[in-house]
Amino acid sequence: MTPIQDCIVNKNHRINPIWIMRQAGRYLPEFREIRAKNPDFIKLCLNENLSSEITLQPLKRFDLDAAIIFSDILMLPHGIGQEVKFKKNFGPELSLINFDKIKNTEEKDFINKLKPIYNLLKIVSSNQIVRNKKDLIGFIGAPWTLLVYMINRKSPKLKLNDNFFNDKMLIGNLLNIIEKFLKLHIKNQIESGATIIQIFDSWAGLVEEKHLSEYIYNPTLNLVNYIKSFNTPVICFPREIKNYKEFCSTVNPDVISIDYNVNPEEILKNINIPIQGGLDPRILLEDKETVKKHALKYLQIFKDVPYIFNLGHGILPETKPETVDYLVKFVKDAK
Ligand code: CP3
Repeated sequence: MTPIQDCIVNKNHRINPIWIMRQAGRYLPEFREIRAKNPDFIKLCLNENLSSEITLQPLKRFDLDAAIIFSDILMLPHGIGQEVKFKKNFGPELSLINFDKIKNTEEKDFINKLKPIYNLLKIVSSNQIVRNKKDLIGFIGAPWTLLVYMINRKSPKLKLNDNFFNDKMLIGNLLNIIEKFLKLHIKNQIESGATIIQIFDSWAGLVEEKHLSEYIYNPTLNLVNYIKSFNTPVICFPREIKNYKEFCSTVNPDVISIDYNVNPEEILKNINIPIQGGLDPRILLEDKETVKKHALKYLQIFKDVPYIFNLGHGILPETKPETVDYLVKFVKDAK
């Protein structure tokens, strides 16, 4: 059994596995070299030879316990016909929604369009570094976070426009379509070799209390149950959600990934499923002593429960690879 799977099923598990959100990415010079030659990000995600190489890059450097596929949550809108572009120093930019086009997307066309992602999973899961020893994490964006990008057409920063909820019909219809294609995307990732699925709900913190069931709990629960029906563990990352306890008791993921604003001691008191993450990615910009001090804090707080070491959001591009090396070794050596 892999270290992460053991941590999930074995309540007495006391060795901390580690992987890092956005571990395949811009802090690695070998990634930047490939990226510089491939200005179209979506095309790069759909190039299975390069995307599998990028997925393996961090595992060649560090003793991580999982690979996460090099892809993006916005491959879903791309797959159903909403154009996605990534602009330098701006982030994603999506075209206006053409609802009829989205509604009429055929499942086989969606799978064909995203086939290189499934091929990437096949390539990586049969690679020596990963096979039988490490988990291969597939992922999706949660329906809410995808809805935010699809309607807002760019990252929302701190709050949504006041007119975001204007067209309730469109929102309801979109959520249904998003859920249908997310299920297809999940099924194909698992059948191609994903051993765990993580659901990224990066904008969960924007939802008001009165809308939580409609936009977060119900749609996420449907997907969590769907993933579990394959006997595959599911990790949820509802970033900045106000009530992690209520989220866990309602949605029931196998693992809850906490963001860096969460007080780990409070979480320990309130939650009794395996916990992942928490460390502020900005700590990795500091010196080794500071990294050690903060990593140790998480290890000590979670020493008696199953805990997967990770960050509280994606690793920052300015992070030095040596610091990641130091962190991984420190966590692996800590008993
Ligand atoms: O974790 C990994 O290493 C796997 C790859 C991965 C990417 N995106 C690659 C990527 C994962 C898991 C994601 C998830 C993702 N994508 C999320 C959820 C996690 C989070 O950060 O909140 C979101 C919201 C997106 C959407 C997205 N993709 C944004 C907002 C951006 C631009 C800003 C940014 O963070 O770079 C991207 C682009 C993106 N996705 C890059 C990478 C490596 C950078 C592309 C580049 O080189 O310019």
